[in-house]
Amino acid sequence: MKTVFVLNGPNLNLLGTREPAVYGAQTLADVEQLCAAACARHGFALRFHQSNHEGALVDWIHEAGRLHAQNALAGVVLNAGAYTHTSVALLDAIKGTGVTLIELHISNVHARESFRHHSYIAAAAKAVMCGFGVKGYALAIDGLAGL
Ligand code: DQA
Repeated sequence: MKTVFVLNGPNLNLLGTREPAVYGAQTLADVEQLCAAACARHGFALRFHQSNHEGALVDWIHEAGRLHAQNALAGVVLNAGAYTHTSVALLDAIKGTGVTLIELHISNVHARESFRHHSYIAAAAKAVMCGFGVKGYALAIDGLAGL
């Protein structure tokens, strides 16, 4: 059974109360359930994490990379939050491990402030998804299954 890592960056622990007009009313626990259901449909094991710390995200990408090296990783779905727009360390972790990664955003970042239009991660991502709300997480897992 291959594993999917779903990694969430800073402030995503606040889902449900954080700017609901932008991010919706569902909580991170709801997102985890939705990901678990999508993984179950495809026969994937799920590792679901959130951290407000950049280095923790780097460490989980390294862990996913070790599974990738054993052909035991389906891929990584990464919502890096604001680190998307700032983090060379996350870009280097993705490139350094060679993991198949989908960059995901709940909101359509291109319809928002211009500082959200640039992603350091996109250059190393297999695909980039944004604007589907939290349903995008399930779509991203479906996408990994289809690769
Ligand atoms: C986000 C978009 C980012 O610009 C923002 O900093 C977030 C969430 C999204 O899911 O839409 O924290 O990644």
